[in-house]
Amino acid sequence: MFADLAPPPPDPILGIAQIFSADPATDKVDLGIGIYKDESGEAPILASVKAAEAWLIETQKSKRYLSSAGNPDYNRLTRALLFGEGSDIFERARTIQTPGGTGALRVAADFLKKLRPEGARVFIPDPTWANHNLLFTTAGHQVVVYPYYDVASGTLRFDEMMAALAGIGPGDIVLLHGCCHNPAGADPDPAQWAAIADLLERTGATPLVDLAYLGFGEGLEADAASTRLLASRLPEIIVASSYSKNFALYRDRAGALSLIAKTPAEADRAHAHLLPVVRANYSMPPDHGAAVVAHILGDTVLRAQWEAEVAAMRARIHSMRACLSDQLAGSNARDYDFIARQRGMFAMLGLAQDVVERMRGEHRVYVGTGGRINIAGLTERNVAHVAAAISAI
Ligand code: LMR
Repeated sequence: MFADLAPPPPDPILGIAQIFSADPATDKVDLGIGIYKDESGEAPILASVKAAEAWLIETQKSKRYLSSAGNPDYNRLTRALLFGEGSDIFERARTIQTPGGTGALRVAADFLKKLRPEGARVFIPDPTWANHNLLFTTAGHQVVVYPYYDVASGTLRFDEMMAALAGIGPGDIVLLHGCCHNPAGADPDPAQWAAIADLLERTGATPLVDLAYLGFGEGLEADAASTRLLASRLPEIIVASSYSKNFALYRDRAGALSLIAKTPAEADRAHAHLLPVVRANYSMPPDHGAAVVAHILGDTVLRAQWEAEVAAMRARIHSMRACLSDQLAGSNARDYDFIARQRGMFAMLGLAQDVVERMRGEHRVYVGTGGRINIAGLTERNVAHVAAAISAI
């Protein structure tokens, strides 16, 4: 069975991380995988997380099984963080803990396959996170790409997006990035979100919001606004969220899947159908990261500390955006102002694959497919090197 297997293509994001690790150069810069680095170039464990981990080690008495839904405190606190404690959306939402945001997307995809055994049409933006296509096609859905962002001008292709989605209908799924679009860095403005809500309301299609960067754009509340708008306007929405970035818990896999239904009773029924999907997949999610998040979100002092840590990460990303954009001003034919204007971890330089490889080979600057750069990998020390590499290329 295994003898004739050819090597699979490398993962477009994880593959670069491996090549980077193997490079012995001392001046190499990793702008590939989306990991937040501090000013010294380290990806540290947050102080609030360290404190919660110490508390957990001290107080946890058992590692008995929980349920397929995971940690109930985590689920309630996540629901409150995303939708606002006690709000109408909060009442209509049910949340389960998942192994990261990827796990949430995969459970959503498997759940949708149960509802639509022939597979749904899942509309994903161009560009989007490199794993979306693989994830939904592997789960048996038909992926349809819609125009989203023009790399050359650094602006949304909003009218084209709306035209491409005009023909969607009930049963179709539209994947939207709730904030800090990965990789574009550009999100719809409030009027555009309202127009998207109108379109979804009119057509009866269901949004699946991918919310992996909450707090990295304008703030925890502001970054939830578009998701809340959709949830307030539409009878049903699906939200896959992640604490990988805003709690820096990457490998601990703390994510969540939320279903918002028309009524609390319908939400309860939909939630019940998620559990066998999880049971047949990984039975139940890993505990540690979620237990840490639940403790922090539920503790006044630790929560304030975490919110300050998110604000500091956000501020450093904003300042690195401004810094790179300044350093590139007038450096070559392109206008790089868009980098300073945009939000979140990523920006797209729009580079062909051979140029991406030259950045790596000639300048030891590791960037993703299409020239996606992780702004959170820039520091005061490496930004001049990166700007020089971009100018030269
Ligand atoms: C990324 O886009 O780099 C991150 O979301 C990490 C991943 O899993 O791809």
